Amino acid sequence: MGRKTWDSIPSRFRPLKDRRNVIISRNLPPTSSSEPSSPATVNSISEALDSTSQSLNEGTQGRVFVIGGAQIYAAALQRPETKRILLTRILSDFECDAFFPVILGENGKAEGWRKSGSEEFDKWTGEALSGKVQEEAGTKYVFEMWERAD
Ligand SMILES: NC(=O)c1ccc[n+]([C@@H]2O[C@H](COP(=O)([O-])OP(=O)(O)OC[C@H]3O[C@@H](n4cnc5c(N)ncnc54)[C@H](OP(=O)(O)O)[C@@H]3O)[C@@H](O)[C@H]2O)c1
Repeated sequence: MGRKTWDSIPSRFRPLKDRRNVIISRNLPPTSSSEPSSPATVNSISEALDSTSQSLNEGTQGRVFVIGGAQIYAAALQRPETKRILLTRILSDFECDAFFPVILGENGKAEGWRKSGSEEFDKWTGEALSGKVQEEAGTKYVFEMWERAD
């Protein structure tokens, strides 16, 4: 995650639990710890990928997720390793000041991306939630998965 996203998470919720947290910043000094629950700070997307692949090679089970914000999504989407987007589509409008860099159409169309079917979604995520409208605190949303259309 980008440094601004890290800053936006209330301190009682950080580091995000049950995963290795990697913060990307051009300015913060790099830090790392062999303790998987401690956050690491790196200075580029490449270093973030190196740090997470090292954890995966060491046998930690899991996948690498880029969790934003907009600057880091934009940089990650340039990388060939980025093959999949897991989108939470909020079914109402809000005023925003940060935007996802790819337009993933409500009609299921997007340039360079293909919306996955529910079977693919369920298989990859392990959750039978594709296309199901959910609601939290009065806000409705659906989960979607998109894959590169190459
Ligand atoms: N809806 C969502 O899915 C979602 C997800 C995450 C975040 N958000 C929201 O998005 C907002 C933050 O997004 P943002 O785009 O403003 O910030 P961001 O991407 O979270 O972080 C930007 C910071 O990351 C570092 N950075 C950016 N590109 C870099 C690169 N190529 N190499 C090294 N470091 C780099 C810089 O840190 P330094 O300034 O320290 O150098 C930069 O200031 C927050 O409001 C957050 O709540 C939404």
